[in-house]
Amino acid sequence: MQKETIGSGSSGMDAEHKVQMGLIQALEQSLQQGQGRSDISYILSQLVEYTNIHFMSEQLLMRLHAYPDFGGHEMEHDHLIEQLRKVEAGFVAGDSEMTTSEITLLKRLVIDHIKTHDQTFSQYLADPGKASLAS
Ligand SMILES: [Fe+2]
Ligand SMILES: [Fe+2]
Repeated sequence: MQKETIGSGSSGMDAEHKVQMGLIQALEQSLQQGQGRSDISYILSQLVEYTNIHFMSEQLLMRLHAYPDFGGHEMEHDHLIEQLRKVEAGFVAGDSEMTTSEITLLKRLVIDHIKTHDQTFSQYLADPGKASLAS
């Protein structure tokens, strides 16, 4: 499998992104291998919980550093976590085929988020004066 580079440039954030992507990949694998529902459900809940904690920690950093695009980035987080919770609810309702395709899409969205919003925030952290903000 081809590995994507998803570094945002901040080592603390990058470590968390690795865990986040690791959980998404573990979930994909367990779905593809047709593992038991309780195993899949466990990984899914870990992913939701970890993602939530990760988003909170990024938002705390943004507040600490008076990040100008806090609102826009927070909205993205809210949207992603909402999507993730929908996938979890769908799986609980019993549709694992749907979960597989939704997770593939969600993985793309998370990677895009890391490469855009998180990257911009990392650049701001490295040099608040230079960072070019999208909004
Ligand atoms: Fe992130
Ligand atoms: Fe983020």
